[in-house]
Amino acid sequence: MIDSPIDTALEGDSRFAPTADPLWRIEEEGFNLAREHEIESLFAVSNGYVGSRASLAEGSLLSNPATFIAGVFDTNASAHDDPIPELAAAPDWMQLSLLVNGREFRLDQGSYVRHRRMMDLRQGILWREFHYRAGDGGLIRVRACRFASLADRHVLFQSVRLTAEDHYVNIHLRAVTEPVVERPGRVRLTAESCRCREIATNRGYQLGLCTRTTGIKVAIAAAGRLRIDGGEVIAPQTESTPDRHVESWELDIEAGKTYRFDRLVVIYTSRDVDRPGVMAAEHLQRLLNSDPEEVIATHARAWEKRWRESDVEIDGDGALQKALRFACYHLIGAANPEDERVSIGARALTGEAYKGHVFWDTEIFMLPFYIFTDPPSARALLMYRHHTLPAAREKARHLGYRGALYAWESADTGEETTPGYAVTPDGEIKPILNGVLEHHISADVAYAVWQYWQATADETFLLQAGAEILFETARFWASCGRVEADGHYHIREVIGPDEYHEGVDDNAFTNVMAQWNLERAAETARLLAEQWPDRWSELSRRHDVAEDEPSTWRDLAGRMYTGFDSRTGLFEQFQGYFGLEDIDLAQYAPHTLPIDVLLGRERTQLSKVVKQADVVMLIYLLWDRFPPEVRKANFRYYEPRTTHGSSLSPSIHAAVAARLGDVKNAMRYFRQASEIDLTNNMGNAAGGVHAAALGGLWQAVIFGFAGLSLLPDGLGFTPHCPTEWRALRFTVAWRGIRLHVEIRPEAVEIVAEGEKSLAVQIGGAPPARLASGQRIRWEQVKGAWKEISS
Ligand code: BGC
Repeated sequence: MIDSPIDTALEGDSRFAPTADPLWRIEEEGFNLAREHEIESLFAVSNGYVGSRASLAEGSLLSNPATFIAGVFDTNASAHDDPIPELAAAPDWMQLSLLVNGREFRLDQGSYVRHRRMMDLRQGILWREFHYRAGDGGLIRVRACRFASLADRHVLFQSVRLTAEDHYVNIHLRAVTEPVVERPGRVRLTAESCRCREIATNRGYQLGLCTRTTGIKVAIAAAGRLRIDGGEVIAPQTESTPDRHVESWELDIEAGKTYRFDRLVVIYTSRDVDRPGVMAAEHLQRLLNSDPEEVIATHARAWEKRWRESDVEIDGDGALQKALRFACYHLIGAANPEDERVSIGARALTGEAYKGHVFWDTEIFMLPFYIFTDPPSARALLMYRHHTLPAAREKARHLGYRGALYAWESADTGEETTPGYAVTPDGEIKPILNGVLEHHISADVAYAVWQYWQATADETFLLQAGAEILFETARFWASCGRVEADGHYHIREVIGPDEYHEGVDDNAFTNVMAQWNLERAAETARLLAEQWPDRWSELSRRHDVAEDEPSTWRDLAGRMYTGFDSRTGLFEQFQGYFGLEDIDLAQYAPHTLPIDVLLGRERTQLSKVVKQADVVMLIYLLWDRFPPEVRKANFRYYEPRTTHGSSLSPSIHAAVAARLGDVKNAMRYFRQASEIDLTNNMGNAAGGVHAAALGGLWQAVIFGFAGLSLLPDGLGFTPHCPTEWRALRFTVAWRGIRLHVEIRPEAVEIVAEGEKSLAVQIGGAPPARLASGQRIRWEQVKGAWKEISS
């Protein structure tokens, strides 16, 4: 009985059961207090509006429950002279204590039998099951699930089933809703203006909360219900104080009967609506009047739809298959296509690391997943950058430049939120310069705009937002450097992606991306002038774009100093890099501490040791710009010097190695990237999942192993898959068409679904025209891809 699998967790009174296929499940057996914080991150449930860490409902010594609501930032005024906004922790809506025969159930007090948690990636539901024996008393079985509805983003759901498996057992269940406890350094929604009130005849209650300094109001309406064997409803005892609401049930449960506790929670904020309290109460009321099973059903259907559009199947490697689904699960749960005023933080809504701040991680690492699987989410994320243009303009102006310089770390308004300093583990105060020097963010945003435009042909977006971002970022690049005596345009004192080297001149990544940004802005100006002259004159009038400005952009792009040496085919990462100390990293392998800690900051800065893909990142992003020998030479040169001190690095190395046909090396990096959260191989998953690394993992498969590229009128694929993959299957969206792709060692098959047709090119074969419903097959004949049938 105790060994019964978690798969039966919802039998009986519900239509819903956990997904049986192990390739859709991430499981955690037992309970290891030391791992609890990373489990809370990995098993978090989220829908892009609200995300909750997977803390134990009853708590434990180390539990760190936190629910984050996208865009609900606040500052901890007492902690800093210059307070930095961060996501405020909302109440732990699933807090539930359980007393069995008068004894409190706590896993860390060791009185459980068999404890399992399972993240059901397919349905977006976290399941949990265990047995508990109260002293020498009766045995009870507890089965629980929770989710953040993907169908109705304001809704959260928790369900717990209790079954006495032998004797009568006395149970005391307490469902508490209250602000999270105050802790130094934590920003939380406070109880100052809390109100608890019954919503309708004893069926629900409502809590009003607010941020301390940003004036955001948050309303939580909730209702708990306990039923016996799907029938009789037992009314709770309730108790309300100004800052907490408690519903409790005390009863003797009968052997064999199941007591099901369901909690429905609705959240609104003053960011979404004028009267969040009223909206939350009304919304809850509607849900209570309908069948709660419908809440689960619509959620499951929403996930089903998203998986149809975004699942990646790897036939031949179960571990990687799971890792990819884990990545897609968190990416799907991170975005909200309905809110274009928020973006995705480095750890999404799964943890407090990086305070919920948005970096280039979103545009460069995560966005491609949305562009090719869910364009409305991609659009909303880019619109966030459009709405934050005023702050980016202000940052540029403040530093003495023109145009738009995006914040290196951004919260709700787009103002710079990078902390000014950090305290190192040995107590040293270290200034953080990224907020004033890591300029490449502006080109990264422009790159994302262009990639979205190329993949979707979304004219409305280009005209309303995209073109303006391209122009304003180009203007920044045209103002932050200088044409010097050598006739070249130089950009001095920056930080590139490799953050071990600060204040460098002419970082190749920054300069070549800036060059590309200037070119695309000039191209967009021409496109607008030709095709949408009214919009062009309106934009140029509003932003004072002189008639000859686009030709200046083109001219500066032509003069850009790139650090490229045509003799070796290498880009110098920045001026003077080649003269730095070469350190053989192999002698430090394997190392758990970051290399800059091992070597010391100063020696690292004076060495060629690279934190993360930098020139390699440039080669990856602007692949078509470089001849094959240049791609290869730079990868070969920089790869052994890169320490992957950032989680953003291994996936890009996997993608580039795969494109270069170095599949063995690609697989090594791919596995490393796939384990960042799942095995916590960087040691910091407790702060939330590494959302950029998850996006990078998806890119490594689609852009790397499958070799997806954008053609002017369609898509290209140059597969380089490991031979042990019997098949790689995925779906990508392109300008309203969905392509279902299957790559096998010997053949590629593609089916198109949509209104139009597109060009598809496999390897060097001539492009084929693929119409809706049509399937084309290519086979490898003597090492070359050939179209076989249409
Ligand atoms: C990386 C940055 C990244 C940031 C947030 C840093 O360690 O160097 O590239 O944007 O983390 O993920």
